[in-house]
Amino acid sequence: MTECESAVATRVVRWQQLHGRSHLPWQQTRDPYRVWLSEIMLQQTQVGTVLDYYVRFLERFPDVSSLAKASPDEVLALWSGLGYYSRARNLHRCAQQIVAEHGGSFPSSAQTLATLPGIGRSTAGAIAAFCFGERAPILDANVRRVLTRLLGFGDDLAIAANERKLWELASTLLPQIDLHHSMPRYTQGMMDLGAMVCLPRKPQCGQCPLHSCCKAGLQGDPENYPFKTRKVLRKSESWWLLIQRDSTERVWLHRRPSRGIWAGLHCLPVFPERQALMDRIPQEMVPGILEMPAVLHVLTHRDLHLHPVQVGATRLPLLSEEDGGWFERAQWQQLGLPAPVRKLLEEVA
Ligand code: ADE
Repeated sequence: MTECESAVATRVVRWQQLHGRSHLPWQQTRDPYRVWLSEIMLQQTQVGTVLDYYVRFLERFPDVSSLAKASPDEVLALWSGLGYYSRARNLHRCAQQIVAEHGGSFPSSAQTLATLPGIGRSTAGAIAAFCFGERAPILDANVRRVLTRLLGFGDDLAIAANERKLWELASTLLPQIDLHHSMPRYTQGMMDLGAMVCLPRKPQCGQCPLHSCCKAGLQGDPENYPFKTRKVLRKSESWWLLIQRDSTERVWLHRRPSRGIWAGLHCLPVFPERQALMDRIPQEMVPGILEMPAVLHVLTHRDLHLHPVQVGATRLPLLSEEDGGWFERAQWQQLGLPAPVRKLLEEVA
């Protein structure tokens, strides 16, 4: 290790103490249940959004055994609006596995944590470092940016061997002493640097404790890192959503299939083409159709253009399938619904 590289851990730890975030609720504990929940919620969601969900979730499920006993629907309902619902399904499965296979206690090593549903290598490293002081690296998107810039690591991260090499480099930079104290600080410090200083655009190099060691910073091209070729092209799709109500203002919803977008959530019926939806509507109801403006909903690999279509009150649903039914407002408000569908129903129902 160069002199610079061996100074990284100390500088990050000191910077975190002075300038990093220290009042987030999941930083006030070493309880792995609470840390795990926060890390899963934070995987694809901003801190500001997570805060309320985190508190509400813990009020209802204060420990892993209460979560393991819950119904999948109740877990999904508490997750509703956070998106990426496979996280909620894995969370529930993970809790059940911890109760069934680990006596209700979280495993304390990153290696074992990473065998559990929904816990990837980086999340496992974060839990092990925060709760048990293990010398385990993390490599989420923020930390990947900090490290590739620091090291001037310009190899394509879409290639697995390069990604593995970066993991190894991340390991060598970890603190060597006083791990119980330094590992949580260092781990949070790397996250904080990525979120507050080493930004994707216009990084604040003047505020960075690693600036004098940072290859990309010294070269003057930090925005060129990390380098990753795109594997998948973004797709764009249109979905037509059928909004049907009965004479008592209940709406007809059904459960989405257990795979694919919004798996397992309740939803309005979806049609891939406008005509397919129109074909379901009897002639006498055509004058009552109201086509609403399209709404764009952005998913990771897809832009969804949602086209809501309202029909007048019907006594019988225009499609009746398994897992479908009429729901009153108070009922659908309690269901796991995709965020844009909930918003739409709040507007029209
Ligand atoms: N993102 C992922 N983990 C985090 C944490 N512990 N604090 C703030 N942001 C995070």
